[in-house]
Amino acid sequence: MNISVIGSGYVGLVTGAVFSDMGNDVICVDIDESRVRMLQGGECPIYEPRLPEMIAHNRREGRLEFTTSTAFAVRRSEIVFICVGTPPKEDGRTDLSYVEAAAQDIAGALNGPKIIVTKSTVPVGTGDFVRKIIEAHRHDGTPFEVVSNPEFLREGQAIRDTLQPDRIVIGTSSEAAAARLSELYRPIERPILITDMHSAEIIKYASNAFLATKISFINSVANLCERAGADVKAVTKGIGADARIGPAFLEAGLGYGGSCFPKDVDSLMYTSREFGTPFEILKSVAAENDSRVPRFAQRIVERLGTGAPAPLAGRRIAILGLAFKPDTDDMREAKSVEICSRLRQAGASLRTYDPVATEKARPLIGEENVEYCRNAYEAAQGADAAVIVTEWREFIQLNLARLRDAMSQPIIFDGRNIYTPAQVAAAGIEYHSIGRPSVGPRET
Ligand SMILES: NC(=O)c1ccc[n+]([C@@H]2O[C@H](COP(=O)([O-])OP(=O)(O)OC[C@H]3O[C@@H](n4cnc5c(N)ncnc54)[C@H](O)[C@@H]3O)[C@@H](O)[C@H]2O)c1
Repeated sequence: MNISVIGSGYVGLVTGAVFSDMGNDVICVDIDESRVRMLQGGECPIYEPRLPEMIAHNRREGRLEFTTSTAFAVRRSEIVFICVGTPPKEDGRTDLSYVEAAAQDIAGALNGPKIIVTKSTVPVGTGDFVRKIIEAHRHDGTPFEVVSNPEFLREGQAIRDTLQPDRIVIGTSSEAAAARLSELYRPIERPILITDMHSAEIIKYASNAFLATKISFINSVANLCERAGADVKAVTKGIGADARIGPAFLEAGLGYGGSCFPKDVDSLMYTSREFGTPFEILKSVAAENDSRVPRFAQRIVERLGTGAPAPLAGRRIAILGLAFKPDTDDMREAKSVEICSRLRQAGASLRTYDPVATEKARPLIGEENVEYCRNAYEAAQGADAAVIVTEWREFIQLNLARLRDAMSQPIIFDGRNIYTPAQVAAAGIEYHSIGRPSVGPRET
């Protein structure tokens, strides 16, 4: 099939790469000229495992190309995917201006029947909005269908998620459009749920909000464990073993970040309010999430601080991990930004390290009292404590004895519970984690 993808970010690039890999002819569009130039020059603008290889292979095969011209792409396509950003506004509602602009560009280029598919995460009713824009801006009565096909991929494993999704949701009232999209997805042999457009739009927000709720729930349990001297890992195992609950998304830590959960929770709250059915549970979910970093930073200040107004003055702290989660360089809503800001405000100087996100982190974290290091041991050099912010695989396998020897005071604050207390204490390091008792180094 001939496909175009409007918006070549995390979702658009992965979508374009996977569809072209299945044998379709795909044109990816972006308004960002430098991004398109990079892609045309064979460079991948984001870090996502397996993506650069897949893009390169399909470009060589002549099935995948990049352009800044929506008109060029749409005219050659039967199916057009809208994958532009839908960032949050101040009040929590979703900014649909990129979707609107994309829909206008698509409308101006219609040269025959098309299926316009919204893959961007958009509030219920946006499909109707897209349809109206296209009707208003097309030059003649060219027929088209609008379909909602929300995306559930996770950054860091986006190719795998796109090839093996738990389900594919297709929201449309057109049987012909549903059949065509089902045909497009047929090679991946995954369950397809065909429903109406409004339900499809709500499925995406309800899924993300439910997952965010699981995270805030277990973080609230972790708070109780800390006070009661219990172990949240044991509690998680106990409740996750219940088939009705399941173990996924029950990792206590610094809370959810990234470009989706925070904005999608806010957007669902906003939309529900607009419809007159306020979603009260989500207020607590967001509030718990917002409290994670201040609470964690406070524990660091209590352990290392010397007194107001700059309790961490003279302290050097290693920050391990900057990306919002492992296997991505995405810094949107990354917890590292807030942690770094709070620790610096308290007077600390920082030495940070991330395997891939450093360059994207620099403009957000800044240069004042921060050094960007080449590995975890360099970051730990002379540090009074090391803080685990992102659970990168290479941190799980760190040589703790080497880390200890690099530090001036062997203390780890683990915001992601990647070690066992016994393991860290055995390496001669004091260990503070989430929802578990703190331990000192074991005497050997
Ligand atoms: N990133 C994820 O993990 C993820 C997962 C599922 C769903 N989503 C949703 O998918 C959508 C896209 O997310 P993303 O992370 O890929 O965003 P992104 O910011 O990485 O990419 C969006 C791209 O669209 C381009 N763009 C904006 N307006 C355009 C236009 N009119 N024409 C052509 N290009 C345009 C931007 O330049 C940018 O490169 C959002 O709605 C998001 O909520 C994201």
